[in-house]
Amino acid sequence: MTTQLVHTRKELRAARDALSGRVAVVMTMGALHPGHAQLIAQARQDADSVVVTIFLNPLQFAAGEDLSRYPRTLESDLAICREQGVDLVFAPTPDVMYPDGEPGIRVSAGALGAVLEGSSRPGHFDGVLTVVAKLFHLVRPDLAYFGQKDAQQLLLIRRMATDLDFPIEVIAVPTVREDDDLAMSSRNVYLTSTDREAALSLSRALRAGEAQAVRGPAAIRRAARDVLVGEPLAQVDYLVLVDPVRLEEVPEWYHGVAILAVAAKVGTTRLIDNLPITVGPVAPA
Ligand SMILES: Nc1ncnc2c1ncn2[C@@H]1O[C@H](COP(=O)(O)OP(=O)(O)OP(=O)(O)O)[C@@H](O)[C@H]1O
Ligand SMILES: [Mg+2]
Repeated sequence: MTTQLVHTRKELRAARDALSGRVAVVMTMGALHPGHAQLIAQARQDADSVVVTIFLNPLQFAAGEDLSRYPRTLESDLAICREQGVDLVFAPTPDVMYPDGEPGIRVSAGALGAVLEGSSRPGHFDGVLTVVAKLFHLVRPDLAYFGQKDAQQLLLIRRMATDLDFPIEVIAVPTVREDDDLAMSSRNVYLTSTDREAALSLSRALRAGEAQAVRGPAAIRRAARDVLVGEPLAQVDYLVLVDPVRLEEVPEWYHGVAILAVAAKVGTTRLIDNLPITVGPVAPA
């Protein structure tokens, strides 16, 4: 089988109409890595046809963020898509996605989009949801795969699909990590070797927290915090233990799955990571 590459709406419509069976989509900003490959592999397993979108969405970058230096690697991205048996790659330019310039009408992420990532990156999730909604309409998938690494994004896209009645099943894929446990991200290429070492404090903090799961929220937060305090090169933006529905800090009596999430700046690079943790005493067998 071959992987078809299209750039325009017209080409996409024709190629999409020719796909058969259940169609899955994996949305990316390019600079593909094994995390993206895992999303594609999962989609390939579940669906009859797989579409990958590659679009560096200006709407989700604030002025002064890294849009202009973001890695662009279309040739190697296509090689990965071919290897993974992708049927169709849609790689539009901003002109194709936003023919009238910046859209005045956008999807609002609401209160859930204002916390955590949203509080450091105002407007970010409105930009994400707007492009995801547009790509849902253009690609018309039955299934859509998103990474747990971006836990808040995943939650917001799920909510959007439900709240705005997109007939699309949103599927989460666990975070793919490097051998040393660093969460894979296209932005990891920005890290110097010193940064790279310091960046390991994020996953180490999450694991330290996870190891305290049965002891409850305070112990989890303290263990994670202690690791981060020991790494002066990581400037912590937030470290939280939140419930997976409202993203609010969980109280000490909380039992069940919570998300331990961290964001930190290492050198010039802002990194995020998280772990779903089952909090509270283990029930006797
Ligand atoms: N390590 C990973 N494991 C699983 N999914 C991932 C991983 N990294 C990214 N994804 C998922 O891939 C999809 C596309 O993400 P994106 O293109 O933004 O890549 P990225 O690595 O997150 O880049 P960046 O860190 O610059 O945002 C999203 O659903 C994202 O959650
Ligand atoms: Mg990302």
